[in-house]
Amino acid sequence: MTILVTGAAGFIGSTLTETLLKHGDKVVAIDNFNDYYDPARKRANVAPFQNHANLQFYEQDICDADAVRQIFDKHKPQAVAHLGAYGGVRYSIGRAGLYTEVNIVGTVNVLEAARQTGTEIFVFASTSSVYGHTTQLPFIETDPCNLPLAPYPASKKAGEVIGYTYHNLHQMNFTALRFFSVYCPRGRPDMMPFMVTDRIVKGEEIKLFDAGQMKRDWTYINDIVGGIIAALERPLGYQIINLGRGEPVLMADFVEIIEDLVGQKAALTTPPAPASEPKITFANIDKARKLLAYNPQTSVVDGLSKLWVWYRQKVMVK
Ligand SMILES: NC(=O)c1ccc[n+]([C@@H]2O[C@H](COP(=O)([O-])OP(=O)(O)OC[C@H]3O[C@@H](n4cnc5c(N)ncnc54)[C@H](O)[C@@H]3O)[C@@H](O)[C@H]2O)c1
Repeated sequence: MTILVTGAAGFIGSTLTETLLKHGDKVVAIDNFNDYYDPARKRANVAPFQNHANLQFYEQDICDADAVRQIFDKHKPQAVAHLGAYGGVRYSIGRAGLYTEVNIVGTVNVLEAARQTGTEIFVFASTSSVYGHTTQLPFIETDPCNLPLAPYPASKKAGEVIGYTYHNLHQMNFTALRFFSVYCPRGRPDMMPFMVTDRIVKGEEIKLFDAGQMKRDWTYINDIVGGIIAALERPLGYQIINLGRGEPVLMADFVEIIEDLVGQKAALTTPPAPASEPKITFANIDKARKLLAYNPQTSVVDGLSKLWVWYRQKVMVK
C-alpha cells in the first residue's frame, strides 16, 4: 500500500514512517523541517531510513496547496496519515493566526488533494487537548468538546470538524485519532518527559505546575504508532477515537520516576497552572479497543526507562 505521511520528520511521524517501511509499505513523506524545535533533531529522526528504496521524501510546506496537490497527483496514495502541524498548547497562545494557517488551512490543503486524487482512508492526528474544560471523566469521544483552552486544541477540533464535511460530501473515510501525551525516543524537547530528564541531568530548574497535582495520561510511542497503522488499514466511515493508555499519572509521581532513573533530585519550582492547562487528561479507550484492536502495552515506568536509555545513548554522549 502507498501511504502518505505528513509531518514525517517529527517525533511521531518519523517513527510511523520507519515502521511502515519495515512493514513493506511504500511511503510518500512530507515535512518542511520547521524550527518549532531544532530542525537538526528532525534530520536525525529521518537519517536511519532516508535512503530507503520505498520512501519518497518531500521537503515541502503543506500550506502550499499546489505543491501538495502535485505530490498527491504523482503518487496517488491509498491512505494518508496527516500529522504535520504545530503542536504545543502553551506555544499557541498569542499565535492563533499561525495555528490557523498550518493546522487548519494546511489540513484543508491535504484533505483537498486527497479528495481530488481518490485517497480512501484519511487519518488525522488530533489531541486529548480538545477535551478542554470538560467535566466528564474519563474523556469519551461522545463529549461535544466545545471548550478548547488554547488556539492549538481549537485548531485540532476544527480539523476534526472539516473532516466530517469531506466524509459527508465525498465519502472519504476519515478517522481522527486523539493522541494522549505521547512520549519516548525521539520525543519532543518541549514536552515534559524529555524536558524533565534533560533538566535533572543538567541541574536546571523545572516548572511543575500546581505542585505536581495535575495528572496526565502518558502513552508510549509504539502503542500510538500501532493505533495509527490499525486506523490506516481500516475504512471506518467517520470516526473520532481516543488513543491513550487510560491510566492518568500524577505529575509529582512522574517526576519522581525520572529522578529515580537519573539518580538525582529535580530542582522544582511550583507555579500555578496557566489557564491553558487542564487539570487532568484521562482516556476512555474502549472505542479504540473495539474498532482498532488497540491494546496499549507499555507502562509509564517501562516507557520512561526506555526514554532514559535513549537519552544516555543519543543525547548525553554528544
Ligand atoms: N506528541 C504528542 O504528545 C501529541 C499529542 C497529541 C497530538 N499530537 C499531534 O500529533 C502530530 C505529530 O506530533 P509530534 O509530537 O510528532 O510533533 P512534531 O512537532 O515532532 O512533528 C510535527 C512535524 O510536522 C512538521 N510540520 C509542521 N508544520 C508543517 C508544514 N507547514 N508543512 C510540513 N510539515 C510541517 C514539523 O516540521 C514536524 O516535523 C501533530 O499533529 C500533533 O499535533 C501529538
